[in-house]
Amino acid sequence: MKFFIDTANLDQIREAQDLGVLDGVTTNPSLMAKEGISGQENVINHYKAICDIVDGDVSAEVISTDYEGIIKEGMALAELNPKIVVKVPMIKDGVKAIRYFSDQGIKTNCTLVFSAGQALLAAKAGATYVSPFIGRLDDISTDGLDLIEKIRVIYDNYGYETEILAASVRHPMHIIECAEIGADVMTGPLSAITALLKHPLTDIGLQQFLADHAKSNS
Ligand code: E4P
Repeated sequence: MKFFIDTANLDQIREAQDLGVLDGVTTNPSLMAKEGISGQENVINHYKAICDIVDGDVSAEVISTDYEGIIKEGMALAELNPKIVVKVPMIKDGVKAIRYFSDQGIKTNCTLVFSAGQALLAAKAGATYVSPFIGRLDDISTDGLDLIEKIRVIYDNYGYETEILAASVRHPMHIIECAEIGADVMTGPLSAITALLKHPLTDIGLQQFLADHAKSNS
């Protein structure tokens, strides 16, 4: 399973990269705004900075919602760095644009996916990644993991190569359950990734080992 970090914060991206388990980064306009990144030049420079840190795919989302605008923006983003994946919303013009990018050999991430039908369309259009937002489904009392399961079955039935990128991951159990179901990738906050490290028996065991070592070496 690939691990992506879902942030535009350079320090957190560095920390995850240093941990040695990072396969990529996803951003969105809200995450960019959270870091105070605005204006075309700053946005472009920020994507370049992320690409310099991370050894893997970097999703950069288009703002346009019309076909021509998405193509223009996406082409410009893709030219920044071969690591860039053009993130396109699941709307009619977005699906058309994903088909265009796919035919040009440009990687895409179809975002804001909330149903199996949307995921099927994204795969048919040739998306590199499809992003079902599991946390936001959970927020409205709908099982996000159930959607991942459904998409897995559909993609396996027909051998679609589109990778299932479980997005809107909120906590470590989301990651573990997505791994059990067979999501190809998950994107989540650094806190969810580092929470996987934790187990009280690890801490107790290590304390004991170090204490015994200190005793027998004093
Ligand atoms: C996906 O790529 C999105 O950036 C993200 O996972 C959304 O997560 P949220 O629902 O926590 O905002």
